[in-house]
Amino acid sequence: LRKDDPVFAMSENSWIVTKYEHVKELLKSPSFIKDQSKFFSGDHAEDHLGEIDAIFRHMMLDVDPPNHTRLRKLVQPYFNPRTIKGLEPRIREIADDLLTDMKKKGSPIDLLNDYAFPLPIIVISELLGVPAEDRNKFRKWSNTILAAADNLATDFVEDVEAFITYLTHLFEERKTYPKDDLISKLLQAEEEGEKLNKDELYSMIVLLIIAGHETTVNLITNTMYALFEHPAQLEKLKTDLSLVESAIEEGLRFYSPVDFSTARWAEEDTEFHGKTLKRGDLVLASLSSANRDEAIFENADQFDIKRKHNPHVAFGFGIHFCLGAPLARLEGRIALEKLLTAFPDIRLSNPFQEPEWRPVFLLRGLEKLE
Ligand code: HEM
Repeated sequence: LRKDDPVFAMSENSWIVTKYEHVKELLKSPSFIKDQSKFFSGDHAEDHLGEIDAIFRHMMLDVDPPNHTRLRKLVQPYFNPRTIKGLEPRIREIADDLLTDMKKKGSPIDLLNDYAFPLPIIVISELLGVPAEDRNKFRKWSNTILAAADNLATDFVEDVEAFITYLTHLFEERKTYPKDDLISKLLQAEEEGEKLNKDELYSMIVLLIIAGHETTVNLITNTMYALFEHPAQLEKLKTDLSLVESAIEEGLRFYSPVDFSTARWAEEDTEFHGKTLKRGDLVLASLSSANRDEAIFENADQFDIKRKHNPHVAFGFGIHFCLGAPLARLEGRIALEKLLTAFPDIRLSNPFQEPEWRPVFLLRGLEKLE
């Protein structure tokens, strides 16, 4: 597609953009917006999905400036690289605890379930102030919400209602007994008014929980899988752990955990690299295609943990660039470094088995990694 039809029509009114330069242009252009209510006026207030719909319409990831700017400003300080660096000792401790449990369990280990999944969940749960022991509930709810994006969810309404009820109880408790966590701080911002309304508060927490659950787990397992596929690279990394930072960047590029950007909508009729897009057309950026664009990356289909020039777009681009990038990068580095130190002889339990990728559209992640 990059070569033959880089702005590809998926249907009469939806498009996929695959070239690196086009992807960046799309993601930074104010002519492609997030707010689709401009085109499709639907009054959801009357139907039973009203409350649920409100949660999704107010997510920072799905709104345009000035609302986006206001919401992002509110949480940015908690996710900037300096603040995140302060979490390093705790992330190391969590990784150590998980590795100790894995050693007790013996092989084969499911790296996804036993390590890559719990690590980021415990971290984001502590940062937000949600009990980490409820993580299996969040996992189910996040899965359902993502499956809904592919029209695969069966118990969507039930799960989202349970999620909202859970958060309502948690918010009440934190209002009475505030703690030093992000939920308590956002509740305070909501009470002060103007900065954040009630729908936005729910949306923010749901977004952070989903983002914290569904992405870094893929970064850790996809990068490890790529290393198992390329044993010489794995050896290189084991003998020189200072390469872990560039190995993670290469993992982000090679098996991008988020395959596609979320949707943008053409604000007006417009030409985009030879195609005529109509007002209200949906446009998606293929991040994983951009990250394999030969015009930018030398030997783009080769996995090279020592790659020098790696300006990948795995975290997106423009105003919606991933808020959690510094956290995900730090978690990824610590996870790999600790894992390879604790298990220097680690290998796939069945190297001849085809990988089982999860059947979801937006994300690239494995079902398990034994
Ligand atoms: C946005 C990828 C981890 C929070 C994004 C976007 C991408 C992305 C591609 C932009 C989507 C678009 O423009 O349509 C990733 C990857 C991760 C990761 C690959 C891990 C390897 C995280 C984590 C958090 C997080 C750990 C939070 C704790 C967010 C938020 C946004 C976002 C809040 C929306 C930002 C905005 O709208 O301004 N992420 N993410 N992400 N990510 Fe991440």
